[in-house]
Amino acid sequence: MTTARTTPMMHGSNSLPAMDIASLIHPQTDLSAHGTRGPNIMARGHGIEIVDAQGKSYIEGAAGLWCASLGFGNERLARVAYEQMRDIGYYHLYRHTSLAPAIELASRLLAIAPVPMSKVLLQCSGSEANDTAVKLAWYYWHAMGQPQRRKIIARTASYHGSTVASVSLSGKPDMHADFALPLPGFLHTDFPHYYREHRDGESEEEFSARLAKNLEALILTEGPDTVAAFWAEPVMGAGGAVLPPAGYFEAVQAVLGKYDILFVADEVVCGFGRTGAMWGSTTYSLKPDMISSAKALSAAMAPISALLVNERIYQAMLRESEKLGSFAHGYTYAGHPMAAAVALETLKIYEEIDIVRKVRQVAPRFLERLAALADHPLVGDARGVGLIGGVEIVADKRTRAVFPASARVPACLDEAARRNGVILRFIGNRVAFSPPMIITEAEIDELFDRFTAALDSTAAMLKAA
Ligand SMILES: Cc1ncc(COP(=O)(O)O)c(C=O)c1O
Repeated sequence: MTTARTTPMMHGSNSLPAMDIASLIHPQTDLSAHGTRGPNIMARGHGIEIVDAQGKSYIEGAAGLWCASLGFGNERLARVAYEQMRDIGYYHLYRHTSLAPAIELASRLLAIAPVPMSKVLLQCSGSEANDTAVKLAWYYWHAMGQPQRRKIIARTASYHGSTVASVSLSGKPDMHADFALPLPGFLHTDFPHYYREHRDGESEEEFSARLAKNLEALILTEGPDTVAAFWAEPVMGAGGAVLPPAGYFEAVQAVLGKYDILFVADEVVCGFGRTGAMWGSTTYSLKPDMISSAKALSAAMAPISALLVNERIYQAMLRESEKLGSFAHGYTYAGHPMAAAVALETLKIYEEIDIVRKVRQVAPRFLERLAALADHPLVGDARGVGLIGGVEIVADKRTRAVFPASARVPACLDEAARRNGVILRFIGNRVAFSPPMIITEAEIDELFDRFTAALDSTAAMLKAA
């Protein structure tokens, strides 16, 4: 009977875990297992640590979902949110109405953009930013007299969000299955994961050139005049913290330029210092037409995202708006005063503490400890940039073979890491690191010491099995 599964014995029916099981659907969760396992309720946080309802403290090595850039709990941001809620609470940006925090935020974002950008659209999430960008890519080509340019190319294993369009961009079959997605016209080119996908003897540059050639072949097969835009995260987050191989974006951007295809950089994970520059686009010399950003934009303390568009896109929007009488798009909470004020204050904090310098100061230690993991028998690959990195768990370092799924090695490692007081992001056979950007060198050592202990105990368990 389902009731036996959905009411765990260890909790009374009025307990929070029981109420959770009875009432809440969790994203990206095995719903069936949740009925017996119940939730791990997080109670509070401070600095890089999060504390659960049982009082157990963890180093949050993934900054939640790559987003808690300033760590957990923040008096200054709380005060700003409080003041906005006290003074106005809500108003919108529709029909020429405006709000000071939204104006200042947009203007500040344009000032720090990695390439010249013209205007900013505000939404509540990374998914909505990418969704909006999909609409704008279509709108743009309509304005340009090429409405047949509808196809969008993203990459296998990329992640751009969960809304209908942004998950269609995402190259994640598990997120498409039984939703009858992706939508038609959303195409996926190669996963640029050198370690796993390169051929024997192929250098990173050769691998990049092959992928760019494949992209060009896909564009030619589909018809260049049917392709609207190409999407990429500078460093792939939910694909497993995968860095672009040497020469990749140079080769890809040359192809996009050849066929006049718009380029959208998804900076939702990389933006605001993560890669050791303010933007991943700066780290990898990207020249996007649109940039989606969220997460660290507000240090994850308020739900807000920003889509930056260049003058080329804006001029097309202007023409369409003149033709149709209005730019017929919008969200109730776009530019919400509390969220915009928190984001603006977050950008002020980044400036005051010089977040980019801070990341650069500790990145060598982070990258050194990350690279050292490659010596462990369970680790096949370990690479990072700035304060983001991924390691790949393998059964055989020489052949790069992975453990059979039935061995549940990543799940055991995740459990061991949590037992050792560290939370990381497990993605298939990869483990992603993206700690809060306020992390110190001593905390980096503690994070890697705990993870290494988890690796050792998992290796010992496998040996004993
Ligand atoms: C690169 C990237 N783009 C977009 C998104 C979607 O953002 P959100 O969950 O705020 O909708 C994510 C979320 O993890 C992401 O990693």
